[in-house]
Amino acid sequence: MITINSVSELRETVSKFRNEGKTIGLVPTMGALHEGHLSLVNRCRKENDVVVVSVFVNPTQFNNKEDLRTYPRTEEADRALLESAGCDIAFMPTVEEIYPEPDTRVFALGRVAEVMEGAMRPGHFNGVAQIVSKLFMFVEPDRAYFGEKDFQQIAVIRSMVKSEGFKLEIVPCPIVREADGLAKSSRNVRLTPEMRKVAPNIARILNESKEYAKSHTVGETEKYVVDAINSYDGMEIEYYQIVDGISLEHLTSWDETGYVVGCVTVYCGDVRLIDNITYFNN
Ligand code: PAJ
Repeated sequence: MITINSVSELRETVSKFRNEGKTIGLVPTMGALHEGHLSLVNRCRKENDVVVVSVFVNPTQFNNKEDLRTYPRTEEADRALLESAGCDIAFMPTVEEIYPEPDTRVFALGRVAEVMEGAMRPGHFNGVAQIVSKLFMFVEPDRAYFGEKDFQQIAVIRSMVKSEGFKLEIVPCPIVREADGLAKSSRNVRLTPEMRKVAPNIARILNESKEYAKSHTVGETEKYVVDAINSYDGMEIEYYQIVDGISLEHLTSWDETGYVVGCVTVYCGDVRLIDNITYFNN
């Protein structure tokens, strides 16, 4: 594995591989790597000749300065994990390298970027589109890998790919969980020991709501999840929405022939966690 810090060296190294006829896979990350990230790297390793993983805490997607400041940074551990996962190129640039000038681009991301996270975190998805579009321009990958834990992010990136005319395949990968069900997240290390014990209830309640949904309306099922999660001390739901898995529009009734996903955001103490569950995917 080689570690690259500069954009020009990244472009040169990748184009050398491409000229040899090799396929290129990209896994964008913000580091503090865990098995969720590594599942993307493993999939990428299986499907491409060359695996590029970017590790960059992208300031333009943080709409909360404190969240950016406290975001875990574990560069050396990340490099070791990437090396053993079979990564070929670890791209670890500085902020100045990625943003020599302020990025003023505003992307046309459509409705999928306005609902849920888009409504709660203004500017967040535009920042994600800024960094991911730059990575796509630098690497020109054949495939890029994203986790379904950030369910809405995948829809936003698909929208960006379409509007910007990128030619690549977006590969969604399933959520990796802790043994107790908690979705793996770089932010989990910031949970207090008490909240770490309570947090697995999010996934448990989402799972149980699938059974509840069989005999209740969408609205009742949303209320079931909200009330059950909020009943725990220290947990507070920001939103729970059952949506169409493609358009992300809020559903008012079950569509058993479609793709139906429930997306949740919960404050566990002061740590904001997200998770989701699929009700139908037909
Ligand atoms: P980050 O939170 O580091 O996540 C990088 C990738 O790993 C994302 O595609 C995310 O969905 C995936 N991932 C995280 N936890 C996962 C889990 N438990 N199971 C499966 N996949 C998981 O998402 C970002 O960074 C940034 O927004 C980024 C796309 C890199 C742009 O800065």
